[in-house]
Amino acid sequence: MGEIRFLEDHRTWVLTGTSSTYALRLDEDDVPAHVYWGPPLAAADVVELAGKTLPWWDGFNDPNEGLGELAADGGTRYWTPALQVRFADGTRALEWRYETHEITGDHLAIRCTDRHYPFRITLHYRLRGDVVERWTELAADTEAEVIRADSATWALPVFEDYRLSHVTGRWAAETQLRRVPAPHGETVFASRRGITGHHANPWVMVDDGTATERHGEVYGVALAWSGSWRLTTTRSSTGRLTVSGGFGQDGVVHRVGPGKPLTTPIAAGLYTRGGFGAASRAWHAYVLDHVLPHPGELRPVLYNSWEATGFDVTEAGQRALAERAAALGVELFVMDDGWFGARTGDHAGLGDWQVNRERFPDGLGPLVEAVHGLGMKFGIWVEPEMVNPDSDLYRAHPDWVLHHPHRRRSELRNQLVLNFARPDVAAWARGWLDRLVGEHGIDFLKWDMNRPFSEAGWPGEADQDRLWVDHTRAVYALMDRLRADHPGLRIEACSGGGGRIDLGVLARTDQVWTSDNTDALDRLRIQHGYSHVYPARAMSAWVTDNPNFVTARSVPLRFRFHVAMAGVLGVGGDIVRWPVEDVALARDLIALYKDIRPVVQHGAQYRLRPPADDGVTALQYVHGGRAVVFAYRQAAHFNAPERPLRLDGLDPAARYRDADTGRTHSGAVLLAHGLVPALPAGDFASTVVRLDRIKI
Ligand code: GLA
Repeated sequence: MGEIRFLEDHRTWVLTGTSSTYALRLDEDDVPAHVYWGPPLAAADVVELAGKTLPWWDGFNDPNEGLGELAADGGTRYWTPALQVRFADGTRALEWRYETHEITGDHLAIRCTDRHYPFRITLHYRLRGDVVERWTELAADTEAEVIRADSATWALPVFEDYRLSHVTGRWAAETQLRRVPAPHGETVFASRRGITGHHANPWVMVDDGTATERHGEVYGVALAWSGSWRLTTTRSSTGRLTVSGGFGQDGVVHRVGPGKPLTTPIAAGLYTRGGFGAASRAWHAYVLDHVLPHPGELRPVLYNSWEATGFDVTEAGQRALAERAAALGVELFVMDDGWFGARTGDHAGLGDWQVNRERFPDGLGPLVEAVHGLGMKFGIWVEPEMVNPDSDLYRAHPDWVLHHPHRRRSELRNQLVLNFARPDVAAWARGWLDRLVGEHGIDFLKWDMNRPFSEAGWPGEADQDRLWVDHTRAVYALMDRLRADHPGLRIEACSGGGGRIDLGVLARTDQVWTSDNTDALDRLRIQHGYSHVYPARAMSAWVTDNPNFVTARSVPLRFRFHVAMAGVLGVGGDIVRWPVEDVALARDLIALYKDIRPVVQHGAQYRLRPPADDGVTALQYVHGGRAVVFAYRQAAHFNAPERPLRLDGLDPAARYRDADTGRTHSGAVLLAHGLVPALPAGDFASTVVRLDRIKI
């Protein structure tokens, strides 16, 4: 548990996390200024330190550069602006000062105001273990234009050097980890697409260049936002590095005024020791303890019909898949795209959310009943924010999509984006989703979003720009509403695979579809990048067919299972056609997954060896007295030496029994020397080792 204290004599706030401290103070100008973020410091040490954060002065600089808690634009502040405001009379420079603050348990609100204009800025801090959640709230009594409103500026200590870790990617190749020296100047990670994006993900980690998987100090910042976003690292020659970020679209202005406050999403910041592994485990713990709505649940093994049927969905076909899925041990059957309107391909029907009566003559009821009768939950694919121009919805409401007059409506995947900032559109979506879920007793929605924004206008609306924020907020509100009205409903977030994975969507969903690429080998890298911030508990992973739907690669079934079992296991192949030996193996591996599921989904994850083109990739999960090790070898080489995998997170004083071989191992030896996993011969070899602490 953390504690927040205000040291009145020193005008300093000290936020004490589980094993970190964050501190800020009021500077001479009565503006919140950064003091410290790092390993635990007592209040007296923080006070001493406050006098040591010396300004840099050479006549061409802001003496306090990089130390603003929210770097406001104006005056001699030349740092990357986190807050830019233009008042009605054209004045731009912000001059603000502290007014008051409140500490309520783990929440600190510092209330400030402009020195002249009726414009209020509240900086919020909430302690969550070692994560500090921060956000900004703006309010005004007269209209003001907010050009930039970041959630926070995070100042790092002055290090010898800095390095950035982040992910890049693209469709079917999301979350590819990158580690680069931090450039001097500004480095911007952003999405201008209205969605989180496949090309980047809203987090960054910073270390001094020496951290490894197991050692070193790592700082991280992650945004809880699923629309356009920006994270900027700024590195100056004076040695300072900050990370500033929040929502927003370049060139888009937020109007703040009477009755129109602006609250930013949360930016979460985390300091850890113990390398990138410890940083990731701390992020996972945060997501499980403070973000996911039902963290304690075990996610069911799901089946999804997409790769088996594509758009060729029929009741008979789905029933056949469901029967086979149930026999395999699947617990949740999800019917994907193609069940509604004229949706027989991606060219038509999106927006017409009535069941296709040619495909389901008696509606959805019989299939849902059949699936429930097989002892499985029933899930269904929806893409509420989208419309095909070839649809009854679009013909009736062509003005419901994002568009500008006199401009083309650019289609991607033959579809346009519905403007959820419009109350009529949001109400329409709530109406049909509520009926769909309620009337059919639907347990699970796969909520897709298959294209970014374009021509994002809202003709007739005085403040069109607000759609960039309000669309995302309306999607969140709708998910929250549906969950509240249907407490049993669970949601998987998807955006053409992993285009909408972030802390914002995880706060109202149960899992995310990690990537449309289900190739086990490619998945190792995608899952590796994903795991840097997001937990296995939310990582949906399917076993699909050979050759792979996306990459055409063929990989043994056991290897495909072992890769998918490192997250929330699903099956997505055409299982009706699987040969009997595959069915038998799948049944066994699903049973094995159910055994290790609490360890994978609720345990601590250790990345023992990262994916490499050669050698063994390995992961370990530990939960209570149980440990599970996954080892994968892509290519075997003659006479290659076997290297033991040094395990982590075990009790050195305990002994562990291998549940399959019965052999026992000393915890200390597994930690100090390691375990040689018994990988079968040949390429694409993989294994799962289950170790149970022996009770004495
Ligand atoms: C997206 C999803 C897929 C599938 C298709 C259906 O691409 O990521 O998993 O649902 O849409 O059209």
